[in-house]
Amino acid sequence: MTEFVAVATTDELDDGEGTVVEASGHTIALFRVDGDFYAIGNDCTHQGGPLGEGDLDGTTVTCPWHGAQFDISSGEVLGPPADEPEPEYEVRVDGDEVQVCV
Ligand code: FES
Repeated sequence: MTEFVAVATTDELDDGEGTVVEASGHTIALFRVDGDFYAIGNDCTHQGGPLGEGDLDGTTVTCPWHGAQFDISSGEVLGPPADEPEPEYEVRVDGDEVQVCV
């Protein structure tokens, strides 16, 4: 069963920022770009680097460990060394709460 879980408030992230959140046992990288929120798995599929701490360029995040790149809107790999996509989570905003579907 999936459910929406509150993981942050809208004022916790500025545009172009990411963070790492926990929801129902999932470790999730949460990002804000142009006022929209995106969520993918936090643990890089290469060797587990924290994607929520990676640099953002538009909707591309770069893993801080070895530089793999992912599309935060889909979880797809955009650059090596990772070759497996990240899970992508649906996000909604309810009032000032950011909620992720897990
Ligand atoms: S752990 Fe992310 S690129 Fe290696």
